[in-house]
Amino acid sequence: MIKSISISSALIVGLLAALASNHLIPFSPLLTLNEIYDYSDLASFTSSVLSYLRPVSRRHHHWHHDDTKERTSVCDNFPPNFPPPDTNTTSTFCVDSRGCCNFTTVQAAVNAVANFSQKRNILWINSGIYLEKIIIPKTKPNITFQGQGFTSTAIVWNDTANSSNGTFYSGSVQVFGANFIAKNISFMNVAPIPRPGDVGAQAVAIRISGDQAAFWGCGFFGAQDTLHDDRGRHYFKDCYIQGSIDFIFGNAKSFYESCQLTSMANPVLPGQKVINGAVTAQGRASADENSGFAFVNCSLGGSGRIWLGRAWRPFSRVVFAYSTMSDIIAPEGWNDFNDPNKDPNIFYGEYMCTGGGANMTMRASYAQRLNETQASPFLNASFIDADQWLQPFSL
Ligand SMILES: *[C@@H]1O[C@H](CO)[C@@H](O)[C@H](O)[C@H]1NC(C)=O
Ligand SMILES: *[C@@H]1O[C@H](CO)[C@@H](O)[C@H](O)[C@H]1NC(C)=O
Ligand SMILES: *[C@@H]1O[C@H](CO)[C@@H](O)[C@H](O)[C@H]1NC(C)=O
Ligand SMILES: *[C@@H]1O[C@H](CO)[C@@H](O)[C@H](O)[C@H]1NC(C)=O
Ligand SMILES: *[C@@H]1O[C@H](CO)[C@@H](O)[C@H](O)[C@H]1NC(C)=O
Ligand SMILES: *[C@@H]1O[C@H](CO)[C@@H](O)[C@H](O)[C@H]1NC(C)=O
Ligand SMILES: *[C@@H]1O[C@H](CO)[C@@H](O)[C@H](O)[C@H]1NC(C)=O
Ligand SMILES: *[C@@H]1O[C@H](CO)[C@@H](O)[C@H](O)[C@H]1NC(C)=O
Ligand SMILES: *[C@@H]1O[C@H](CO)[C@@H](O)[C@H](O)[C@H]1NC(C)=O
Ligand SMILES: *[C@@H]1O[C@H](CO)[C@@H](O)[C@H](O)[C@H]1NC(C)=O
Ligand SMILES: *[C@@H]1O[C@H](CO)[C@@H](O)[C@H](O)[C@H]1NC(C)=O
Ligand SMILES: *[C@@H]1O[C@H](CO)[C@@H](O)[C@H](O)[C@H]1NC(C)=O
Repeated sequence: MIKSISISSALIVGLLAALASNHLIPFSPLLTLNEIYDYSDLASFTSSVLSYLRPVSRRHHHWHHDDTKERTSVCDNFPPNFPPPDTNTTSTFCVDSRGCCNFTTVQAAVNAVANFSQKRNILWINSGIYLEKIIIPKTKPNITFQGQGFTSTAIVWNDTANSSNGTFYSGSVQVFGANFIAKNISFMNVAPIPRPGDVGAQAVAIRISGDQAAFWGCGFFGAQDTLHDDRGRHYFKDCYIQGSIDFIFGNAKSFYESCQLTSMANPVLPGQKVINGAVTAQGRASADENSGFAFVNCSLGGSGRIWLGRAWRPFSRVVFAYSTMSDIIAPEGWNDFNDPNKDPNIFYGEYMCTGGGANMTMRASYAQRLNETQASPFLNASFIDADQWLQPFSL
């Protein structure tokens, strides 16, 4: 059993509970918790869930009568008078995988949203696993995904760089529309975890390419390249983000607040010099680009021996502040992608961090211990001009 299982056991238990309560698992559950802990990784666990789901959905056709009964009792728990009627500022689209309301897939609800809508379009997504690859096109701004908790509602797919048109197109969810909001939902890519040396196994859980996006209480699950924080200004609060290599990457300008970052890189024995992961690969390419990742009040742990970031492009910019880091962080902290020409232009800063991984004594020469003046632009959501667009969680 590898450590990543215990790290993601909360989600696994949550997904199982969701599956069970949705009656997606056959009557005598074929999977028990004990069996799950025999799986060596989340990917194989989830692909076995996938294989169980397929026969169950066929059952819907063959056992239609039973299914109707089941649905009646399941849907009885549905909130009354839901979804609420449209107002002049919001429309609600109800998604339930069992068919208790208007849409059974998230993509069908996205498709129903008007192009260039000026309303807030709330996709209320019930508990369950949604096995879909989803695209929100540029023509659909102002969409909200409202889940029931990141251990209860998950969007799951398994494309890789190889199985799609490269890493950038492998995302289980791809968001091109502006003003996207997600609350209490998980985005997962369950393609096989890359083995060392694998080519084309990168597997993105979500690509965020629209400006002004916000994520509250969300989960991001994958291994290599989990969260493609591509472009625009983005806010993440109370999120759980799991991966191994470059698991938060891209050229966005993003503020991560109170998030839990979990490495699921293979454990490294004491004394072994290997590095087998990196939290970030920020893609700022020139001094003109106003992008970067700021992490404030986050916690960083898990397994492996990893860097805080490596310089995907020459002007890569990342700051960690008021965060705790376990000793999985390699003493040098950061990596210039083996290109010393990048060193003068990289901006990698740390401010008031604590924990075994935060000791800066052995840090790479270009890593900066920031003072208060230097750190201040990165310490609150003014970094992403939040006062111009970010709404409180409750709205
Ligand atoms: C929306 O409806 C509210 C009342 O429900 C009304 O006060 C407001 O003027 C309306 N706004 C627009 C843009 O129609
Ligand atoms: C269900 O969807 C249809 C088609 O988009 C729409 O006409 C109808 O108003 C929706 N009903 C509810 C209850 O959302
Ligand atoms: C949105 O625009 C696309 C492309 O023009 C069109 O195919 C689709 O039907 C439109 N969707 C809605 C809900 O109007
Ligand atoms: C909808 O999107 C437009 C453009 O992205 C934006 O100006 C507007 O404020 C948004 N409306 C809502 C309700 O979010
Ligand atoms: C949804 O997310 C918010 C913000 O992180 C959190 O306070 C709340 O407890 C979450 N709700 C559920 C049902 O998970
Ligand atoms: C995704 O899962 C399906 C069903 O298990 C499988 O057939 C397919 O090969 C997987 N794709 C990748 C890229 O692993
Ligand atoms: C495939 O990827 C290439 C390179 O990233 C891109 O230019 C092209 O538009 C993509 N094609 C499709 C169909 O998405
Ligand atoms: C991806 O495709 C390349 C070329 O076909 C192949 O060599 C490689 O093994 C594939 N990677 C994976 C993880 O399947
Ligand atoms: C820091 O994060 C922790 C855990 O996510 C949270 O409980 C606490 O309220 C946060 N503190 C601040 C000042 O945001
Ligand atoms: C930081 O690391 C250095 C070098 O490894 C070590 O000498 C020092 O004791 C460490 N400081 C703390 C506070 O652990
Ligand atoms: C912070 O560091 C900058 C750059 O080294 C320096 O110019 C500035 O005087 C320092 N500010 C404080 C308050 O120490
Ligand atoms: C956020 O930080 C900026 C400095 O970049 C500062 O001017 C502003 O007062 C801060 N806002 C809050 C609410 O602390």
